[in-house]
Amino acid sequence: MQEHRPPSSNDALSFAYDDEDADTVVNPSANTPLGALIAERLSRRATLRGFAASAAFGLLGSSALSRAADAATAAKSSLAFKEIEHETITGHRAPQGYSAQVVIRWGDPVKKDAPPFDPAKQSAQSQRMQFGYDNDFLAFMPLPMGSRSSSRGLLCANHERTTPALMWSKMDGPDALKTMSREMCEVEMASQGHTVVEIRKREGKWQVVTDSPYNRRLVAYDTEFRIGGPAAGHARMKTAADPTGLKAIGTFNNCAGGKTPWGTVLSGEENIHNYFIGNAEASPEAKAYKRMGVTGRGRYQWGRFHDRFNLDKDPNEPNRFGWVVEIDPYDPNSTPVKRTALGRCKHEGATCAVSHDGRVAVYTGDDERMEYVYKFVTKGQFDPKSRAANRNLLDEGTLYAAKFEANGKMRWLPLVHGSGPLTAANGFGSQADVVIEVRRAADLVGATPMDRPEDIEPSPRSGRIYVVLTYNDRRKADQVNPANPRAENKWGQIIEIIPPLVNGKPDHAAIECRWEFFVLAGDPSKPEQGAKYLGPVSQHGWLACPDNVAFDPRGRLWISTDGQDDAIGFCDSVYAADTRGPGRGITRLFFNGPTGAEICGPEFTPDGTTLFLAIQHPAEEKGSSFDKPSTRWPDFKDDMPPRPAVLAITRNGGGEVGS
Ligand code: FEO
Ligand code: CA
Ligand code: CA
Repeated sequence: MQEHRPPSSNDALSFAYDDEDADTVVNPSANTPLGALIAERLSRRATLRGFAASAAFGLLGSSALSRAADAATAAKSSLAFKEIEHETITGHRAPQGYSAQVVIRWGDPVKKDAPPFDPAKQSAQSQRMQFGYDNDFLAFMPLPMGSRSSSRGLLCANHERTTPALMWSKMDGPDALKTMSREMCEVEMASQGHTVVEIRKREGKWQVVTDSPYNRRLVAYDTEFRIGGPAAGHARMKTAADPTGLKAIGTFNNCAGGKTPWGTVLSGEENIHNYFIGNAEASPEAKAYKRMGVTGRGRYQWGRFHDRFNLDKDPNEPNRFGWVVEIDPYDPNSTPVKRTALGRCKHEGATCAVSHDGRVAVYTGDDERMEYVYKFVTKGQFDPKSRAANRNLLDEGTLYAAKFEANGKMRWLPLVHGSGPLTAANGFGSQADVVIEVRRAADLVGATPMDRPEDIEPSPRSGRIYVVLTYNDRRKADQVNPANPRAENKWGQIIEIIPPLVNGKPDHAAIECRWEFFVLAGDPSKPEQGAKYLGPVSQHGWLACPDNVAFDPRGRLWISTDGQDDAIGFCDSVYAADTRGPGRGITRLFFNGPTGAEICGPEFTPDGTTLFLAIQHPAEEKGSSFDKPSTRWPDFKDDMPPRPAVLAITRNGGGEVGS
């Protein structure tokens, strides 16, 4: 989600929009070893790791940012589309020769009995059957299961958040949230979570199959989840409504995600701290709340009507959120599972890679300033022949946090109860405590505090893992480290982790890997930004605030952004870059979204002919409201508010996107 609006007493809208995330740094640890850092800072080679060694590295000065240079860029890149330009628009733009089609919008029917969308008459019951708000992660799961169909499949979408100021009339005042009714809160609860909906491509157009038996909403309001892994049944997971600690109701703030090799979807519960009211300091969980930013002053008002969101009444409920959840979209009757072995934090997403020996690694980032990158390696091996055999693979294995070193190596530090500092002496009675308080565990083992880890995605082609760090404007000069080398970093960076090869296959279980920078984002014509690209980016090809990424079938990296408006004054976008060859790391601007929106999702069909994008929170910006939005994207009708929606981008006449 977008997290770059500091609250201000004279910004009336900030109360309605701000999730408090923007201003949160709750990591009290000193995991920036100062002595080591000072030495590293003296080494320019270390801070520019990756670039120093690259013969292809070329940074054009402002005078060279010309059409001729843009042509040179295009010549190096394998991406053949005609690059668009940085801009701010109320609509959206794809390159010449491409079409962008709206597939599904907030309020569109997911279940066949869903009433038509009427923003004045939303209820929990209608929203429960309609597409939710603020779509984020997208997965295209081909139908039939196991096929590589690119014309029929299940579109799986996360719904991260809700914005009353844009959902209802007159909800943009400074005290508006305090006036939220039970009905409005329940519409929010029925909106957030996840959607599974069948889509088909007919005569070049994607259509929703509203009567498909697969169609399903999983929501904060009433969907039942099983709790799996080391925290299942632990005392800290038990609540008044669930004395077993094995069953949670709902999922919310579902940000990014991933797909497993056995055809399920993973969804990250991210900023869960905003959903609870009450006296956090009086709770037996007070210290743990603090590390997660649970203050009891969350902006969501659900706790006024539902006791489980009131810390005074149910102190353990926050422990049941902040997990990676696993959903089987191919079985509409399946119970989704919270996989606690992967740790509890503010998960952006969770992406999988099968290692050389069949074990599965899941990479996940904790999206907050100064938080960590994690991976989980299963104990068992993926069985490609038996879907059932993989059903609970994510419940047993080893969790690690990442430490990046100045010498180009990085280590995965185990977060295992009983090892190192993770003992009863430090308050960890079992692995359940380690996963419930995974941030504190990672503090103690000495993980590297990062510049807000968003997507962490392994390339299916090369096995290299791309760590997308969106920005960290709060990092001070004495807090820089080799992987996060810029203070007041408003632009973000992308790191490549390079696992060792075993018999030619990436070892995703390795505890030592190499790393390099792929992009230090920002405007290369402004030396004070410290931006670095691996090749000559054009005057519109440079980016800021990378967030979600996807790989096309050729292994090229597609990068969507969140926060370019504040960082560089242009709307959020999608860029693409080769990951190898002469165009390696040369980002090119492919798509611009509507004003106020961040771009999420990116997801390709298996054949690469459709790129799905989730356009989240269009019109969310200062001075914009339901009654006077800055854009009415995508309908542009006077009686319709802006609506988060999924776009399908295709080439006119067919063919691979970007080719
Ligand atoms: Fe929900 Fe980290 O963006
Ligand atoms: Ca973001
Ligand atoms: Ca994100």
